[in-house]
Amino acid sequence: MADVVRIAVLASGGGSNFQALVDRFQRAEAPDREVVGVIASREGAGVLERARRAGVASAVVPAARSDEADATFLLRTLAGWRSDIVVLAGYMKLVPEGVVRAHWGRILNIHPALLPSFGGRGMYGARVHRAVVDAGARVTGATVHFVDEAYDRGPILCQWPVPVLEGDPPASVAARVLKVEHRLLPAAVEALASGTVRLAADGRVRWSREWFESERFFNREG
Ligand code: GAR
Repeated sequence: MADVVRIAVLASGGGSNFQALVDRFQRAEAPDREVVGVIASREGAGVLERARRAGVASAVVPAARSDEADATFLLRTLAGWRSDIVVLAGYMKLVPEGVVRAHWGRILNIHPALLPSFGGRGMYGARVHRAVVDAGARVTGATVHFVDEAYDRGPILCQWPVPVLEGDPPASVAARVLKVEHRLLPAAVEALASGTVRLAADGRVRWSREWFESERFFNREG
């Protein structure tokens, strides 16, 4: 990838994962990475305020338009920012196929469960953790995967397990998983930016060095 890897984020909610990316990459120690902008799926999303405070550009997908119009808007905005990597961080809309194809192997999503369980259409935010608790699952976690045309489906880069404790309410499972997300997502983005991981032509994820599992990764603060 380019000398400075330009990272764009798509989000719908409060944007704590966007913040984790900003905290990791918008600092002097990471001069070769830049969070260049965030696209919110709706006006009023908390992530927009975070972007303003971080001095990161933002845009909002115009409401009530067609998939085609959404695709044109996303493609234009991402190209305008010269985005190398696109990160879905709590983005609740399906990304149009043209956008996925234009960024194939360079577009990631984070999901708050261990895919392929507890993912897919309608499985976002609190609903995921409610489904995990209702199913009596003992382990959940976070997954980062390459995006394809379906919700929460493409090839998996990395996952991190989180225990579900006896009597755990969904909100405490959510909080435990979110903490893990804030470490896993920047690590996955860095791995892609540095070429440590890539999506091969056969559709498989290839790691040259699984550093997210290394001592260094688990011992990292923040
Ligand atoms: C995160 O938990 C993310 O994994 C989830 O939305 C939340 C956004 O939180 N994404 C999905 O459920 C995708 N299916 P944030 O706005 O604080 O980053």
